[in-house]
Amino acid sequence: MEFKLTEEHLAVREAARDFAQNELKPGVIERDSKMIYPTDQVRMMGELGFLGMMVSPEYGGGGMDTLSYVLAMEEISKVDNSCSVIVSVNNSLVAWGVETYGNEAQKAKYLPKIASGETIGSFCLSEPEAGSDATSQRTTAVDMGDHYLLNGTKNWITNGGTSKIHLVIAQTNVELGHRGINAFIVEADWEGVAIGAKEDKLGIRSSDTHTIMYNDVKVPKENRIGDEGFGFKFAMKTLNGGRIGIAAQALGIAGGAYELAAAYANERKAFGKPISAHQAIAFKLAKMATEIEASKMLVYRAAWLKDQHMDYSSAAAMAKLYASEVAMRQTVEAVQIHGGYGFVKEYHVERLMRDAKITQIYEGTSEIQQLVISRDIIKNGNLYIPVVNHNMENA
Ligand code: CAA
Repeated sequence: MEFKLTEEHLAVREAARDFAQNELKPGVIERDSKMIYPTDQVRMMGELGFLGMMVSPEYGGGGMDTLSYVLAMEEISKVDNSCSVIVSVNNSLVAWGVETYGNEAQKAKYLPKIASGETIGSFCLSEPEAGSDATSQRTTAVDMGDHYLLNGTKNWITNGGTSKIHLVIAQTNVELGHRGINAFIVEADWEGVAIGAKEDKLGIRSSDTHTIMYNDVKVPKENRIGDEGFGFKFAMKTLNGGRIGIAAQALGIAGGAYELAAAYANERKAFGKPISAHQAIAFKLAKMATEIEASKMLVYRAAWLKDQHMDYSSAAAMAKLYASEVAMRQTVEAVQIHGGYGFVKEYHVERLMRDAKITQIYEGTSEIQQLVISRDIIKNGNLYIPVVNHNMENA
C-alpha cells in the first residue's frame, strides 16, 4: 500500500493552496456576507485550469487524475466554499458527464469552453417534489420527432444564474419509470428558459443557487446524452463522481477549521500558557486531527478507485457520508476553541461551520449515502467486502 503523493500531486496542491490563500481569502468574508458572486475569482480559476482539471487535453482540459482534483478541491475548500462548489459542479458533474457519456459532436461543441471556464455548467436533477427520490421526475421531455419539448421546474441549482449550459434530467415516458428518463444539454439562452431569484442561504452564500423553469423549450434531438432512456443512469453515475468532489470539499472544510483552530490555540494564552497546552484543548485538536486523517483515507481511496476504473459508488458514498459528518463536527469544535472570537465573521471559522452543513445535504443527503452503502452491502449477502479488494469493472 502506497501513501505517497507524486511530485505532480504535490505541485497541484501547492498551486491550489497559493491561489486560495492569496486570491480567495482576502475578499471571502465580504462576498459571503453580501452574497456577491465571485466573478473575478471564477475567471482566475478558469485561467489557472481549475475548472476543467480532469478534461482530456484534446478538449483543452488539464488531463489530470481524480486525486489531483481532490487535492485542489481540498485547498480551495479550506478558504472559499462558494468557489469550491463551482469547481466541483463544473468538473465532476458537467465536464465529466459530457466527456464520459456525450457523443463526439457534443464533446467538440461544449467541452473546450467548459474546460476553460468560459462556460460554467449546471446539473439540473432536483425538483420541488423530487429531491432524494430522484426517479420521481415531473419535468417532461416530449418527443416531437426532430426535437423534444421540455417543460418543468428544477430547484436548488448550483450555478443556476451564471451557467450557460444545463444538463437537464427529464421524464420522456412515465410508464417506463427510471428507464423512461433522459438527460439533455440545454443552453441557458434558449427560448423558454427562465431563471428564478438567487437563494439566500445559510452557507456557500456567494455561489448562485436558483430555481430554473423550462417552458416549452425546444431541445434538438442531438442534445440528448446517451441512448434513449439512459438519463437516470447518467445522473446516478455522474453523481458518484460528484460525491467524491463534495467529500473533498468537506475534507477541506474540516482541514481549514483545524488549521485555524490549531494556530489560534498556539497563540492564545490563558492561565499563563497557550490554550493548546491545556489538555481540554489539546485533546480536542488530537481528535480533530485523527478524524480528518480518517476522512482523508476514505476520500483519497474513492478517488483512487475511480482512477483505477474500479467500482466506486459505495466508496464515494462512504467518503461523502463520513467526511461531511467530520466537517460538521470539526467546524463546531473550531468555533468552540476560538471562544467568543469564533462567533464573529473575522475569524473565518463561523463561515466554515455554516458551509459544512450543505455537504451533508447536496449531491445526495447523508441518508441517501447510507441507502447506497446499505444496498451494496445487501447485494453482497450482508458481507462488507473491502472495496480495495474489488476488481470489478467500472459500473
Ligand atoms: N450508481 C450507478 N447506478 C445507480 C446508482 C449509483 N449510485 N444508484 C442507482 N443506480 C441504478 C440502479 O442500479 C438501478 O438500475 P437497474 O434498474 O438497471 O438495476 C437504477 O439506477 C434505479 O435505481 P434504484 O432502483 O435503486 O432507484 P430508487 O428510486 O430505489 O433509488 C436513489 C435511487 C439511489 C435513491 C437515487 O434516487 C438517488 O441517488 N437519490 C439522490 C439524488 C441526489 O443525489 N440528488 C442530488 C442533486 S444534484 C446536486 O445536488 C447538484 C448540485 O447542484 C450541487
